Amino acid sequence: MHDTNVITANPIAEPYSAKAFASAVTSLSLHHFRNYASLKLDAATVPIVLTGPNGAGKTNILEALSFLSPGRGLRGAKLSSIDRQGGSMAWAVSALLDTARGDVRVGTGRDPSVTGEQGKRLVKIDGETTGSHATLAEVMTVLWLTPQMDQLFLEGASARRKFFDRLVYGFHPGHATLVNAYERAMRERSRLLTERRGDPKWLSALERKMAESGIAIAAARLEMEDRLNQTLRMAESAFPRAEVSIAGDAEQILPEMSAVEAEEWLQNRLEKARSEDMYTGRTSIGPHRSDMRVKHNEKKQPAEQCSTGEQKALMLSLVLADARAKKAWNGQTPILLLDEMVAHLDAGRRAALFEEILALGAQAWMTGTDPLLFSSLKGQAQFVRVEDAQVISG
Ligand SMILES: Nc1ncnc2c1ncn2[C@@H]1O[C@H](COP(=O)(O)OP(=O)(O)OP(=O)(O)O)[C@@H](O)[C@H]1O
Ligand SMILES: [Mg+2]
Repeated sequence: MHDTNVITANPIAEPYSAKAFASAVTSLSLHHFRNYASLKLDAATVPIVLTGPNGAGKTNILEALSFLSPGRGLRGAKLSSIDRQGGSMAWAVSALLDTARGDVRVGTGRDPSVTGEQGKRLVKIDGETTGSHATLAEVMTVLWLTPQMDQLFLEGASARRKFFDRLVYGFHPGHATLVNAYERAMRERSRLLTERRGDPKWLSALERKMAESGIAIAAARLEMEDRLNQTLRMAESAFPRAEVSIAGDAEQILPEMSAVEAEEWLQNRLEKARSEDMYTGRTSIGPHRSDMRVKHNEKKQPAEQCSTGEQKALMLSLVLADARAKKAWNGQTPILLLDEMVAHLDAGRRAALFEEILALGAQAWMTGTDPLLFSSLKGQAQFVRVEDAQVISG
């Protein structure tokens, strides 16, 4: 039926995607994207340093890159707010990706024919429109850390869960599609319950779908937790040793039973929760409620009790461990978008970050206002000066 049993039986499974993963973007074009009317940037398969004054358009370039993966980009923005102000055109991003199987062209942008609050994002891979942007996870993995994520350990679970699921995409490209399928069924069930016109058979069919996709989601997360902790334990890193866990009811139950039993368990729990969920308008159980917990291992402290600088270092530690794990797994590294990360690190950690990125061979796109902070990367990275929505490579 599906491969959750395989996943639990063999936690560190071999890659099953037939598609190649990209390790680098070699060319990036933006059209009507925020402050860019149009931009073309050729990139080498090395770290890329974007420097320039405040408001120049550095983060916008990272945001454009984040749209090469599923979801709403690193700002979680409304699609229409990305259209260049003052223009009347829908934004578009196109990129050439360097993959193990040759070049792949990816294009994405707002569908101009769809109006309304949410809008719709179109995705084309090698000229062919895909049904869902979840497909992008099959082509490349993009991970980001931004200054806004300083709040990650202080806010609700949703942002942490999304961050963790993005790590999972790199190893289970179908994970994004599963999460979408689960959420679609959950929304439909909620709608039926709140409208109080739920035909029990219809509700059961939706709960079955939620149980199947939900347990597969939980299994992939547990596998990721294992993989990441194994990598973190082996780490020779200047960044604090983190320990990560994914806390949720489905994730907790799964190691105790087979995937089929866990699906039945979740379906039963959903059925029993109908009247409560009808009353609250929420779905009280399932992997959409899970949380990522991170611990600073040396300090034996949960991340939320660590200082802002320590939290940043923990997040970098996770992202670097993920990149190491991915490289060991299929030889590819994720594309890393590190917005303003470097300015907040002390000199020792900064040097360590550059060293780890270079050792990984990861295409890390790093921004900052001060090029001097990156001077030790001269000759090993591509330096791009961004000024008033123009770029100069040097
Ligand atoms: N839809 C839009 N249309 C036009 N300009 C926009 C749009 N959205 C944002 N901008 C502008 O894009 C400019 C560049 O923003 P960006 O966040 O990329 O700057 P930055 O170089 O990262 O600056 P900082 O160093 O302050 O982080 C800003 O002046 C912002 O107001
Ligand atoms: Mg910025």
